[in-house]
Amino acid sequence: MSAPEPDIPVFRRLIPYLRPHAVTIGLSLILLLAVTPAASFHPLVWRYVVDDVIGRRHLAHLLPALLVMFAVQGFATSVGALRDAMMERVGQKMVFAIRNDVYAKLQRQSMGYLHDHRTGDLIARAMSDVDVLQDVAVQGLDAIVSNLLSFLWVASVLVALNARLGMATLAPIAVVFFLTRFFNARVKAIYRGVRERLGDMNARLQENLNGMALIKAFAKEPYEARRFREATERYLRVNFGAIRARNIFFPGVRFVGFFSNIVAVGYGAWLTVNGQFTVGGLVAYRGYWWPLFQPINQLATINEMLQRAQAAGRRVFELLDEPESVRDLPDAVELNIGSGGARVEFRDVSFAYSERPVLCGVSFSANPGEMVALVGPSGAGKTTVLNLIPRFWDPKSGQILVDGIDIRSVTQSSLRRHLAIVQQDTFLFSGTVLDNVRYGRQDAGMEEVVEAARAANAHDFIMQLPQEYRTEIGEKGVKLSGGQRQRLAIARAFLANPEILILDEPTSSVEPESETIITQALERLMQGRTTFVTSHRFSLVRGANRILVFSSGLLVESGDHLELIAADGLYASMYAMQMGDEAGRPSC
Ligand SMILES: Nc1ncnc2c1ncn2[C@@H]1O[C@H](COP(=O)(O)OP(=O)(O)O)[C@@H](O)[C@H]1O
Ligand SMILES: [Mg+2]
Repeated sequence: MSAPEPDIPVFRRLIPYLRPHAVTIGLSLILLLAVTPAASFHPLVWRYVVDDVIGRRHLAHLLPALLVMFAVQGFATSVGALRDAMMERVGQKMVFAIRNDVYAKLQRQSMGYLHDHRTGDLIARAMSDVDVLQDVAVQGLDAIVSNLLSFLWVASVLVALNARLGMATLAPIAVVFFLTRFFNARVKAIYRGVRERLGDMNARLQENLNGMALIKAFAKEPYEARRFREATERYLRVNFGAIRARNIFFPGVRFVGFFSNIVAVGYGAWLTVNGQFTVGGLVAYRGYWWPLFQPINQLATINEMLQRAQAAGRRVFELLDEPESVRDLPDAVELNIGSGGARVEFRDVSFAYSERPVLCGVSFSANPGEMVALVGPSGAGKTTVLNLIPRFWDPKSGQILVDGIDIRSVTQSSLRRHLAIVQQDTFLFSGTVLDNVRYGRQDAGMEEVVEAARAANAHDFIMQLPQEYRTEIGEKGVKLSGGQRQRLAIARAFLANPEILILDEPTSSVEPESETIITQALERLMQGRTTFVTSHRFSLVRGANRILVFSSGLLVESGDHLELIAADGLYASMYAMQMGDEAGRPSC
């Protein structure tokens, strides 16, 4: 993913996210105009006290001067705090909106996209990159405006107090701008690198945690630890680069900025001795040293923050801009399937995940209510055929029709409403049994859930769980066996009551003793639905209305069991082999 760096105008892209908060931002800017002079007002009081109260011995003016100082500073502090709170809230709301957009985008993406991108990197983009954006949009942009205003205010006060001294004091600051340009050019690539290495590290960690059993089983701990170390080391090195750049730049800027101080005290003292400036004025200059220097000091930090946020923002918007390979056409219609099931037809369908063709010119059709079995050696393309029906991927050429309508011309949601899928490994969300079964139809009543569970042969084992239907399962709950998981998946499908059913190796991760009751439940589920099933169990396949035999992406034979046996081709030999296996099994 370190492809050519996309040129994304991150700041411009943030505008739509800030627009809903225009009123708050506007108000905060107005408050800023009031706060800026107030916050750096006190040196003027110092000058007044030195030149007037002390110099002219107007002691009566001292208390009012102090009261003014107190009131102005109180105003600046409280309004400043109010502004900060307002802007931080805006920042959080913006992050909230972006993060939900990122999630929605990921959810719209095709399975192919999710397959091609590492989960850990996507998580890094959705979580930490989005967080970094908040820094830029709110703290960064706000800090730029407020520091710029503050700088302009202080600079004009300095020039107003003494034009020549003011100019001389401001001169070193020009140098800072050149330094900043130089720094920006250098760190851009570095910060992009930091974000990318962070994504790599995340991805590696995520993958290893998922595959920990495999790592342990093959005693690959040292190997994986080394690979993880390599990823963290790359992150370390790129961070070292950032540290180096930062620590040349910041001190450089501070030192150049400090020159202003030297100029002010030297030239100021000379002017005062020559009667062209007052001691009070010089004291005020001393007081303004920090307000003048602070924005410059900040400039470096903010600039760095912006660079970092730009790198993160690019990664976020890159994700948001990614085209969706499977998407609804603008004129997509709702798919409606009449009662009596759906007719599904493949017309000369070819498909490839990347360059290598996986399906070549596959044509077949399934009549309403028919059961179609797909068999063939592993890697032949059976799962791929099944994945094209719900449009997890789109064919490279050819058409898939449901009731005569190309599935690309209907909305994905309406297509999938008519489908249910039971795969080899059923994914269960953490939550209760009830939640998981209801995933097929959220508004189902309890009786319907129980009915579906009974039909799936799941009711009995559910009733034996500690809290029956309310038992927590998944990561933090009860662990279910492969067979129990499949029966929940079947119950889920019953509840969804689809016209088209897709069963991909539904019994292959099931313990042998529950295979029969699962097969029973599946047969019940298939009634009256157009079903596609892949299985290496001939017991499940044999009864199909039509069997499609795949080999290396080609549909090589089709017919019912007896026809295919009679044809004496691939199917017949596979069948003979499995039957041979069964016959040859020792009986002890
Ligand atoms: N997501 C994927 N990306 C790239 N290649 C894939 C992907 N899924 C499957 N393949 C390849 O496509 C071919 C067909 O796979 P598949 O449809 O899973 O076969 P089957 O289900 O018949 O065992 C295989 O060569 C497999 O390696
Ligand atoms: Mg498969």
